[in-house]
Amino acid sequence: MPSIHMDYPDPSFSTANDLACALAYLESPTHISQDLPNQLPEAGIGERQTLDLLAGYVLGGAAHLNAPTALAHMNPPTPWITWAMSLWNASLNQNLLHDMTSPFATQAEAIVLDWLSPYFGMAGGHFCAGSTLANLTGLWAARDAAGVSTVVASEAAHLSIAKSCRLLGLDLIQIPTDQRGRLDPQYLPPLQNVCLVLTAGTTATGAIDPLDLAGQAKWTHVDAAWAGPLRLSPIYADRLKGIDQADSVSVSAHKLLFQPKDAALILFRQLAVANAAISFDSGYLAKPNVGVQGSRSAAAIPLLATLLAWGRAGLASRLEFLMQVADTLAASIEANDRLELWQRPQTGITLFRPLGMSIPTFITKTPPGMLSTCVLAGEVWARAVAANPCVDCDQVIAAITTAVNGNT
Ligand SMILES: Cc1ncc(COP(=O)(O)O)c(C=O)c1O
Repeated sequence: MPSIHMDYPDPSFSTANDLACALAYLESPTHISQDLPNQLPEAGIGERQTLDLLAGYVLGGAAHLNAPTALAHMNPPTPWITWAMSLWNASLNQNLLHDMTSPFATQAEAIVLDWLSPYFGMAGGHFCAGSTLANLTGLWAARDAAGVSTVVASEAAHLSIAKSCRLLGLDLIQIPTDQRGRLDPQYLPPLQNVCLVLTAGTTATGAIDPLDLAGQAKWTHVDAAWAGPLRLSPIYADRLKGIDQADSVSVSAHKLLFQPKDAALILFRQLAVANAAISFDSGYLAKPNVGVQGSRSAAAIPLLATLLAWGRAGLASRLEFLMQVADTLAASIEANDRLELWQRPQTGITLFRPLGMSIPTFITKTPPGMLSTCVLAGEVWARAVAANPCVDCDQVIAAITTAVNGNT
C-alpha cells in the first residue's frame, strides 16, 4: 500500500548547503549545539551566516514527520502550499485583533469559518493557537453563557479539559469509559445543569464518545481536536453523527487539516450568544476582543490556501487514505500471532503490543518516530497514529514484522 500523496516534498533540505549542514549535524557525535553562544551575543553574525549556522540544527535536528515510517504522534507533515503562506504571513505580521492591521486576513478567517462550520452544524467561531485554547474557550462560554459550574467528561478526555476546569473554577466529574475507550453513559450524572464534554477521537485510542448525547446537557462541548475533519469525508462523516447538536466544537487545524502550528478552531452553534460571553471591549479596540487570545496571527490563510488547492475532495482523499492505513495496519497485526491488537481503530489510531517481548524492547527495534506508547488500565501499549499522508504502510508493516519475528 504505497503512499499516494506526493505534494509533500521533503521540507528539510532545500539547498545542497542545507543538506551538507544537516549531514554535518547528524554526524556530530553529541548533537550538542556547541556552535551556539551561551550568552546573548553582543554583536550579530549577520543573516546569511545565521542561516548557514542554524540550517544544520533547525533542519537536521528536526523530527521527520513526513518519513515513510512516521506514525508516532498526532503531528502531520505540512503541505508546501502552507510553507509559502506562512512565509507571507511572517513577512506581513498581520494581527487579527484589529481589522486595520489585517484587512484581508480577517476576511480570510471569516471565509474559512463559513466553509467549515456547516460540516459541524455550527454557525461560526474563531481560530486560536491550538485545541487546548479551543477547549478552554468552549468551557468559558459554557460557564458564562449557560451558567454551568460543573463539567462532566470521560476519564479519557484530554488533559486540557482538566486544565480548563482548573483555570475557570469549574468542578470536573470524570466518568469511566467502556471497553472501546468511549465515555460510558451508564455512569452519567443528571445532565440538566452541567456542561457535558464529549471527545471525538480521544488522544490515546482515537475513540469517539457517544455523540448522540450531544444536546442533552445544559451545554455540550465536543472536543473534536483529532477526528473533527472526518466530517468532510462522506465515507467517515457519520462516525461523528450527532456533533451538530453540540453547543461548541473544537477542531485542531494542525492535526488532520495538515496545518502548521499553532492552529485550531473553536466553533459555536449560537455564535452571538457565545461571543457575548467571551468578548471584552477596550478603548483602544475598534471591535470587541473575542476569546482568550489578544493578538492573533493570520493562521486561517494557510488553511484557506490548502482548501483552495485541494478542495473538499482532496482533503477527504488524504483522510480516507490515512484511515485505510490504520485499517491495513490493524489487519496485519491481527494476522500476526506474535502481536495483540487492542481494538480495531476508530479514527486512525492503532494500539497493539508484542507477545513475549517488552514494549520498550519492541519499540527500540522499530524505526525512530514510528510508534509512541500509551497506558490503558495500567497496561502499556504501542500506539501508531495515522497523521502522515507520506507514510508507506508496507514499510511500517515490514518493520513491525521484523521487530517481532526477526529477519527470517
Ligand atoms: C483530543 C484532544 N484534545 C485537545 C488536545 C490539545 O490540543 P493542542 O495540543 O493543540 O493544544 C489534543 C492534543 O493532542 C487532543 O488529542
